[in-house]
Amino acid sequence: MSLPVYFAPLQGYTDAVYRCAHASLFGGVEAYYTPFVRIEKDGFRRKDLRDIAPENNPGVTVVPQLIASLPDELHRLVDGIASCGYRRIDINLGCPFPILARRHKGSGILPYPEEVERLLRPLEEYDEFVFSVKMRLGWESPDESLRLLPLLESLPIRQITLHARLGRQQYKGVPDMEAFARFYEACHLPLIYNGDLVTVDDMVSVERRFPRLVGLMAGRGLLAVPWLAEAYVGKDAEVENGYERVARLHEKVFECYQAVLQGPHQLLARMASFWEYLLPEADRRLKKRVLKAHDEREYVDAVRILFLSMQEKG
Ligand SMILES: Cc1cc2nc3c(=O)[nH]c(=O)nc-3n(C[C@H](O)[C@H](O)[C@H](O)COP(=O)(O)O)c2cc1C
Repeated sequence: MSLPVYFAPLQGYTDAVYRCAHASLFGGVEAYYTPFVRIEKDGFRRKDLRDIAPENNPGVTVVPQLIASLPDELHRLVDGIASCGYRRIDINLGCPFPILARRHKGSGILPYPEEVERLLRPLEEYDEFVFSVKMRLGWESPDESLRLLPLLESLPIRQITLHARLGRQQYKGVPDMEAFARFYEACHLPLIYNGDLVTVDDMVSVERRFPRLVGLMAGRGLLAVPWLAEAYVGKDAEVENGYERVARLHEKVFECYQAVLQGPHQLLARMASFWEYLLPEADRRLKKRVLKAHDEREYVDAVRILFLSMQEKG
């Protein structure tokens, strides 16, 4: 039996438009974690609330995520997310962006157990909620996550997703599997592995090495190969009509953005992120034509040619 696969949150990539389109075309994803919701000076960002609103995520199992460093912020975020109807919330202790990390948000809080306790202890007030955390090995050293573990186990945290990198690494280097193994051995909470799962073989090898895992989380691997989870769960590297379905994924996402974004410039800029990780095996020249298109017609033409070439290949 394969492990459940979760779609990692990727700010700027896996928004509601993308999640709905992906879920309607590809199987194998147990739930989609949302990019983090945060409080700014003026409160919630309307865009964040729109993104998690159930009416914008029909047919998709969504786990909303929040980021905070202070208990007051956490309360407001939990209450705001709860008012959308959710009772399952993930807390981000992994984001490495320096601006947030400097304010002890995301992985920036990991070296400070007393701040983690002050932030998360109030979760005890929400009995009917299921909370999880998504974290890194540490900011500076993997000892940080090991040191935090007894505290996390004493809190109402039901599950941990561990991205096997340090905050200060950002996305560079490779996941530290030895440090992940040490955390895995010490951890009594249900644990999900995250970091650089890009092929079915990667997923199978993590599943075999860590048999007590309760799930795998993939982000950029799924953006690159949208049928990755389906192929892993179905135990089959060959999926049916993969490229054809990616073409439909593109069409759905493009049409949704076309309806809401203002003007070709915004639209093509948004679509450029759609292409950033997608289909790394595609002909570079054809991909460049897609990214360099000056207007919608040129763009649609370039995309059609690229998908034709992929379908001929595949
Ligand atoms: C552009 C980008 C945005 C991300 N946004 C979030 C986020 O909002 N919340 C979060 O927990 N992780 C975020 N991550 C981290 C991913 O969820 C994931 O942990 C990381 O990319 C490693 O997994 P992967 O190798 O499967 O992509 C982001 C990563 C990238 C590259």
